[in-house]
Amino acid sequence: SVEAAPDRPLAGRHVLVTAGPTQEPIDPVRVIANRSSGKQGFAIAAAAAQAGARVTLVAGPVSLPTPGGVVRVDIETAEQMAAAVEAALPADVAIMVAAVADWKVDAAPAKLKKAAGPPQLRFSANPDILAMVGSHVERPQLLVGFAAETDELVAHAQSKRVAKGADWIVANDVSGDVMGAADNHVVLVTADGAEDWGPMPKTEVASALIGRIAGLLGKD
Ligand code: CTP
Ligand code: CA
Repeated sequence: SVEAAPDRPLAGRHVLVTAGPTQEPIDPVRVIANRSSGKQGFAIAAAAAQAGARVTLVAGPVSLPTPGGVVRVDIETAEQMAAAVEAALPADVAIMVAAVADWKVDAAPAKLKKAAGPPQLRFSANPDILAMVGSHVERPQLLVGFAAETDELVAHAQSKRVAKGADWIVANDVSGDVMGAADNHVVLVTADGAEDWGPMPKTEVASALIGRIAGLLGKD
């Protein structure tokens, strides 16, 4: 195994990160999207690269520069994100920060015309990427999900952790105005319980999380 230098504790490790929103087309010119900025996921990818990891960042449409030393794969839809994530395996650690659209639309092949009146959109389920990785033959040694919640933060995060086969869920209190903001209030939910990290900048959430991961992987 690789002897990790103290300042590069993730040297020799592959860390896979998803970030940003996904976009689901309605027709060739319109999409359904969400308000994820990608800031938290990009900060985590940057912190992992700084810790010496090889980093694959699968990113939805965001307006952010690629962090130094990170291999970025741009996608639009949840299905494209699922395929890019699977193609990036194996990884030692996967951190699924993306705000994946839960549903896709039966997209029209041609532009919908206003004169036809408001469309009746038909939705169907998207793949759950975190759950897919959680049950994958190449499941990473450590699998981390994020969960944005407005209420029952820890209870919802704990049931997602179990249901999706993740090791940790970083539960994100979005009852305030967190989308696109620089700060985040997270609670780390593991099999051992919940740890409230309090409000802190997204860059500090990233370095704290990567520090915790480095500590864990450094033991083997
Ligand atoms: N996730 C995913 N694929 C999806 C939906 C979510 O990989 N199709 C991942 C997210 O990247 C995140 C975690 O699952 O790491 C939790 O996402 P969240 O939206 O909070 O959970 P859902 O199961 O979709 O539940 P809900 O939106 O109903 O709260
Ligand atoms: Ca969801």
